[in-house]
Amino acid sequence: MKKHKIALIPGDGIGPEVVAEGVKVLKAIEQADENLSFEFTEFPWGCEYYLENGKMMDEDGLEQLKDFDVIYLGAVGYPGVPDHISLWDLLLKIRKGFDQYVNLRPVTLLNPSLTPLKNKTEKDIDFLVIRENSEGEYAGAGDWLFKGKPEEVALQTGVFSRKGTERIIRYAFEEARKRKKTLTSISKANALNYSMVFWDEVFEEVSKEYPDVGTYSYLVDAASMFFVMQPERFEIVVTSNLFGDILTDIGAAITGGMGLATGANINPDREFPSMFEPVHGSAPDISGKGLANPIAAIWSIAQMMDFFGEEEWGKQIVTTIKKLIDEGEQLTPDLGGKASTEELGSHFTNLLIEGL
Ligand code: NAD
Ligand code: IPM
Ligand code: MN
Repeated sequence: MKKHKIALIPGDGIGPEVVAEGVKVLKAIEQADENLSFEFTEFPWGCEYYLENGKMMDEDGLEQLKDFDVIYLGAVGYPGVPDHISLWDLLLKIRKGFDQYVNLRPVTLLNPSLTPLKNKTEKDIDFLVIRENSEGEYAGAGDWLFKGKPEEVALQTGVFSRKGTERIIRYAFEEARKRKKTLTSISKANALNYSMVFWDEVFEEVSKEYPDVGTYSYLVDAASMFFVMQPERFEIVVTSNLFGDILTDIGAAITGGMGLATGANINPDREFPSMFEPVHGSAPDISGKGLANPIAAIWSIAQMMDFFGEEEWGKQIVTTIKKLIDEGEQLTPDLGGKASTEELGSHFTNLLIEGL
């Protein structure tokens, strides 16, 4: 019997609503599989916690989390607490503190009806974005000079270290080799004349060790266009922290919207816990109304199962999401349906178990 310790951070807005559905799925798996068991510990951290306690998480929060196998997170950020505080003191603190330097964000179309793109099918939109998740434009380095004065200047420094750049590119090459796929690097060396020139050089260097992997390299502006017009160009993509953030919202858009996009924050050395979460945020515009689509959060359970080495469950979850979408009966309003978050989640769990 394999026992996995899971830390739950439902967080803000629709976070708790979608995490509840993911937990249902985990409990169903536990019941169906006598070799698996999960132990849950919930943490109340987030913006409400901040308003009551003056902090997003406890000072020793990372210490409290470090012995869990994984973290399952909903969303962080809500009007009333400045975003740069809520995100830097919780979500980004965990990603960085646990050196979750790989962000795996699949861009997978499950049904042609979901894409706003004309004449594109599942064959055309099926790739993986590997986003650098620990430094780059999100280094948090900068300065704010002459605050409030006419000569005011805000500086935001990107940090691209040899170690940080090489390890993410190498990880992407390994994935491409394993899956026998091409690898596309997305950067912007024409304008970012230090960081991205360096990125491109490292990509070129590391590529020499992988002569079996076909490579492409695009500027991020052109790549944004190709994501929309020719997504079939991409198999595995590696890119920087900020570009990966933005490109994966485009990825979400072409596969059915934010309600479907999942992301895994991986610490490949397994020295610290990895974290699984939907790509979307707390969606204040729909929170508390049962309107949130829990599929992204459920899909991140599939990524968690893969991480546990339970790939059969990972596959089963994605197949069941597809089945639920193909049926088209229990969908949330973002997908044109009338089901609530809870109804979709319960129906999913039934389908998952029926499909075994
Ligand atoms: P958002 O992803 O929360 O919402 C963008 C749009 O997508 C909204 O119209 C929302 O209703 C819709 N949407 C998102 N998830 C959905 C779902 N599951 N089902 C149906 N519709 C969904 O992005 P935002 O509005 O820019 O950000 C809101 C807050 O969330 C901000 O504080 C932001 O910083 C934070 N945020 C957090 C994370 C995270 O925790 N990982 C990610 C993105 C944004
Ligand atoms: C995401 C989010 C975060 C990011 C924000 C909330 C800091 O947009 O996970 O995509 O930019 O990484
Ligand atoms: Mn984002």
